[in-house]
Amino acid sequence: MNPYETFDTKGRRQRPLKAEQKASLARFLDLAGDYLRDGYTYSQKAYTFTDDFREPRSVEADHAALPLRADSLEALEAEIQHCRDCPLHTHRIKTVPGEGVARPLVLVIGEGPGADEDTSGRPFVGKAGQLLDRMLASVDLSRERNCFIANVVKCRPPHNRDPLPEEIAACARFLNRQLALLKPRMIFCLGRVALQALLHTDAGIGRARGQLTTYQGFPLLGTYHPSALLRDVSLKRAVWEDLKILRDQLAALDTREP
Ligand code: URA
Repeated sequence: MNPYETFDTKGRRQRPLKAEQKASLARFLDLAGDYLRDGYTYSQKAYTFTDDFREPRSVEADHAALPLRADSLEALEAEIQHCRDCPLHTHRIKTVPGEGVARPLVLVIGEGPGADEDTSGRPFVGKAGQLLDRMLASVDLSRERNCFIANVVKCRPPHNRDPLPEEIAACARFLNRQLALLKPRMIFCLGRVALQALLHTDAGIGRARGQLTTYQGFPLLGTYHPSALLRDVSLKRAVWEDLKILRDQLAALDTREP
């Protein structure tokens, strides 16, 4: 499957092209036309083409751009809504910036919206989301009172595939901006994709979960994604261990800084 594949209104397959691809196609068509006409090759015509989609900026360039960008969550949401930095925008129904309280104890980070999130514009509202709400409630956390819930990418990847590295890179500036605005006490990262994206590691989730580390100076803890838990209940014990670490870390923070 081509992740960039889109369809026109008549259901015909469309594939966004890079400028070089369009240029070689044009050269080929020119040559074929010349050949069919009289067998001679004429000098090439000059064309100017542009990419159908932009290369994602580097993460470093995004970081450099951050201070000039949205200075409130509302402004950031508007920016996300208009984003066309990667091909995921062509598939989305709604962008899913995230939701929760403005100064959260915990920023929960998942991988990307699924079908329910794409139609509602809200993060973690499907079956996995309901389980996430129960997981958080078990340690006295919720999106209504003390958490903010976001994703590594803000638009749904087609067919719920993993977001591609270039899509994650294109969206990184939004998550980093959210982090700077929200200033959570901790990050709780859900699943392999989000953890690998944030920590730039190949480590599997079975190894990396439950280990305290930091992301951009904020304490970070990872655990299994609630969807994995729905598929395999034997992971429940490990997730509960991780939730207890989260709870204890938050309790320690609270006593150190009343
Ligand atoms: N899975 C995620 O990672 N994020 C959502 O918002 C929903 C499901």
